Amino acid sequence: MTDLPGWLPSLLRSLRLGYRASPTLIAVAFVTTIAAAVPDALLALAFSLLATNIALAAALLAVLPIGSWLLATVSARANRRFADRAAIVMEEHVARLQSTVTTMEHHERPEIMDRISVLRDHADALSELYQQLFAALGALARLAITVGLLMSANPWFGLLGVAAVPAVLVSTLRANAERRAEEAGAQHDRLAKHLFELGTTPSPAKEIRVFGVQNKIVTLRREAWRERHRPLARARWQTAGWQAAAHALFGLAFLAAIASAVHQPPTLLLVLAAGGRLAQYVANTVQQTHFFRTIWLDVSRRLAWLEDYAAAQTRNADREPPQRLDHGIHLEHVTFRYPGTERNVLDDVTVTLDAGTTVAVVGENGAGKSTLVKLLCRLYEPTAGRILVDGVDLATIDPARWRERVSGAFQDFFPFEYTAGESIGVGDLPRIGDPVALRTAVARAGAGDAVPDLARQLGVTWENGVDLSHGQWQKVALARGFMRPDPLLLVLDEPTSALDAATEDALFERYADAGGRGVTVLVSHRLATVRLADLILVLDGSRLVEQGSHAELMAADGRYARLYRIQARAYGRTGS
Ligand SMILES: Nc1ncnc2c1ncn2[C@@H]1O[C@H](COP(=O)(O)OP(=O)(O)O)[C@@H](O)[C@H]1O
Ligand SMILES: [Mg+2]
Repeated sequence: MTDLPGWLPSLLRSLRLGYRASPTLIAVAFVTTIAAAVPDALLALAFSLLATNIALAAALLAVLPIGSWLLATVSARANRRFADRAAIVMEEHVARLQSTVTTMEHHERPEIMDRISVLRDHADALSELYQQLFAALGALARLAITVGLLMSANPWFGLLGVAAVPAVLVSTLRANAERRAEEAGAQHDRLAKHLFELGTTPSPAKEIRVFGVQNKIVTLRREAWRERHRPLARARWQTAGWQAAAHALFGLAFLAAIASAVHQPPTLLLVLAAGGRLAQYVANTVQQTHFFRTIWLDVSRRLAWLEDYAAAQTRNADREPPQRLDHGIHLEHVTFRYPGTERNVLDDVTVTLDAGTTVAVVGENGAGKSTLVKLLCRLYEPTAGRILVDGVDLATIDPARWRERVSGAFQDFFPFEYTAGESIGVGDLPRIGDPVALRTAVARAGAGDAVPDLARQLGVTWENGVDLSHGQWQKVALARGFMRPDPLLLVLDEPTSALDAATEDALFERYADAGGRGVTVLVSHRLATVRLADLILVLDGSRLVEQGSHAELMAADGRYARLYRIQARAYGRTGS
């Protein structure tokens, strides 16, 4: 995995993004936040004048706090309004980036998920980017003015500013240490959240109660939390120690300055007023820097990384998919291993899937059937070799445009709990409200019995929602897969695993007859269905070991023929 981009370019990118949310509000917020720092810092000067010019001091003491308050109020409001607006822009940006990342990798690799989860949890912090930046600049301005005042009385008092440096440095170190600890515990955090969901959502409820594992889940969750918080707490205590030492150093310097000015009342007043505030300003600056370093520099670096990551995937992929398939899809020495793993899941697979044919893929669990399907959908790219669509490398085709021409139904489908019509219509958004298209898809999927009424809300947790059985949900998913009118590629990855054999047979006959120009890829364990396919691919231990029609494979009398005879016997049929 690539390192996070540098902090400065990342920061500039995030700032540019925020700037687009509202340039005017930013300008107002900037001017007022910085301006508010000036009268506040000058108060120390007014105090020191008490010893020499009471009238001027009184006037300043009256005017400065009011000015300071006024500017601070305006700046707070401008900042708030800007942050609200920026929050929407930033969160939308992060969500869009995540969903436009074209491959699945970021949903499956733990180290990428950790990176993204921190970003997602703190995305709203980005909206306060400017607010924090201005506040930090304001804190710095106060600090500079105050140090200037002190040095005008005695240049040595400038050392007070130097004595504050360790505190600032420690705060930087602190942020880094805590961030590392937080990232190290992210997997426990995910586990804890997962267990919480397990214990509180309806779908696992049945099994959890039947097996009586409630208490176990609670215990595991508590342990996961503990695992997550222990390194964090340790890092916090440790760094708090450093910080206490750094602040003690500043305290000593302050005492020394007071002692040296004891016999000059105006200077003493200045030291007391300005020095006392200096401690506060240093603390503010430190606090601001801390927030900077933890939340937002880090978050903006993650954001910049995600932007790059999303962009890298489409960099050389801007070709259009063909209007229609003339020849077919050709896999050329395709080898694939999941990122971050050691083993090839597909090894040197070469095969042509002709346009207008149905291709069945069979093989044991874990043979790589679903992986092959994912590669065809371009959810992953081959580690080696190419997939050619009518001679064009799939890797160079715009993934979004390719997917517009791909449709599918999967074993691990998702139950979209909308109305039945919407849940199916998602399969082809432009036609989600088209009753003819919906009814056609329902008919092709044989889902009429599962969803008699397209307006019906699905999912019991919604008002008037109905619950579907697993098999019925699968039919909805299947209908969704049939929404696109003429996909170049239709993938059916065990789409009928929850249905009975007769239903699957009937289904298959329907879509084998449909006669489009695309390629249909069907993964199934039922060889009685598979035999009707134009081409059958047999995967075994990551290799394509046999390919051909049912008749050819039976004649070859290899692996497929053996499996077929076993199943035929089990179902009481005869071999072909
Ligand atoms: N996201 C993943 N990361 C790492 N390994 C995976 C991932 N998905 C699947 N695998 C592994 O790849 C192999 C093939 O999986 P899959 O293609 O789902 O098999 P099939 O669909 O034939 O049952 C299995 O050994 C599985 O453990
Ligand atoms: Mg599978």
